[in-house]
Amino acid sequence: MIHFALSKLYHYPHKSKAKLPKNPLPALPIISIIDKTDFSRNWLFLVIKSMNLAVKLNNFELPTPIICASGTFGYGEELKGLVNFKNIGAITTKTITPQSRAGNPPPRIYETEYGVMNSIGLENPGLEGFLEEKLPKLVKLPVKSIVSVGGFSQEDYEGIVKKLENEKEIEALELNLSCPNIKMKKMFSQNKDATYGLVKSLRAFTKKTLIVKITPEVEDIVEIAKAARDAGADAISLVNTFFALGINIETKKPYLGSIYGGYSSRAIKPLALYKVWQVARNIDVPIVGGGGIENASDAIEFILAGAAAISIGTINLVYPNSATDIVKGLKDYMKRKKISDINELRGGMVS
Ligand SMILES: Cc1cc2nc3c(=O)[nH]c(=O)nc-3n(C[C@H](O)[C@H](O)[C@H](O)COP(=O)(O)O)c2cc1C
Repeated sequence: MIHFALSKLYHYPHKSKAKLPKNPLPALPIISIIDKTDFSRNWLFLVIKSMNLAVKLNNFELPTPIICASGTFGYGEELKGLVNFKNIGAITTKTITPQSRAGNPPPRIYETEYGVMNSIGLENPGLEGFLEEKLPKLVKLPVKSIVSVGGFSQEDYEGIVKKLENEKEIEALELNLSCPNIKMKKMFSQNKDATYGLVKSLRAFTKKTLIVKITPEVEDIVEIAKAARDAGADAISLVNTFFALGINIETKKPYLGSIYGGYSSRAIKPLALYKVWQVARNIDVPIVGGGGIENASDAIEFILAGAAAISIGTINLVYPNSATDIVKGLKDYMKRKKISDINELRGGMVS
């Protein structure tokens, strides 16, 4: 199933004829969450308090807290007809680099028992290709979008951010700081000074909402998040994938063409949740929390740990309409806990 979704999003070699399942649960009007046995009590609750799922990342308002993560949702257009955009707070585009990139050699995806390794290698049409082919369709979709920006030097990021500043329809940018800095030979977000310097310089070029996405592959994620916040980030997105390796013992070759890759999906959820909690308890900044979220219960854990919004990634490759199920699950939970505003849950872990 994952191969089918990937072939829609990337130039993926493994084509599959399988059809993605249509969501059996279409978006439901609020009244439908009232169960028949408890009708009057719940109805009264809903009349008195309407349910709010909207969240804010500083000035950027999202109708629901669910953000589709970069690299797992294409540019939105590819998944039209398979998803109910109404339930998605925003979609984040595949990371754009200054020049187009074909990506890494195949195989670029390997599924383990509990997770997924990828080494896509930032395949994307480049800034010009994005502006010409992708952006016009993206802005017509009935959903908010965030453009993910990447590069290998400060100049790369600056060039893209300056150019996108003229595109008035784009409200928010996500800086993917998991790209390797060619000078440091490390990812930008593996060093607090590089993170601060880059975000500070880009902040000067844009009034758009700046979300800074950081890697979990650091000793102290709090100092990196703090550097990004101090440099002017409106929100911090964590986590990107963890480094991972798999070896076929018969051929003795690595499963991925580029040897190692980034690990995502349910296997990383507790690790990601811990990082989100660490940042949330130490820094006052809106957090987009994610890593392994597959359902409403996972999403609620991230919100209780301190996330303002949550991101869903690999699950989109299996089931692109999962935001619809998550929204339904959030509403059910809020009804059960008599909560009218999702924001009341943020950081609500009891310890
Ligand atoms: C196939 C694939 C491609 C990805 N491409 C990008 C990317 O271009 N930019 C980025 O910031 N993150 C990228 N990611 C990371 C996801 O956005 C997300 O942060 C990560 O997978 C963890 O979330 P998840 O466990 O819900 O998938 C990619 C992930 C996958 C699985």
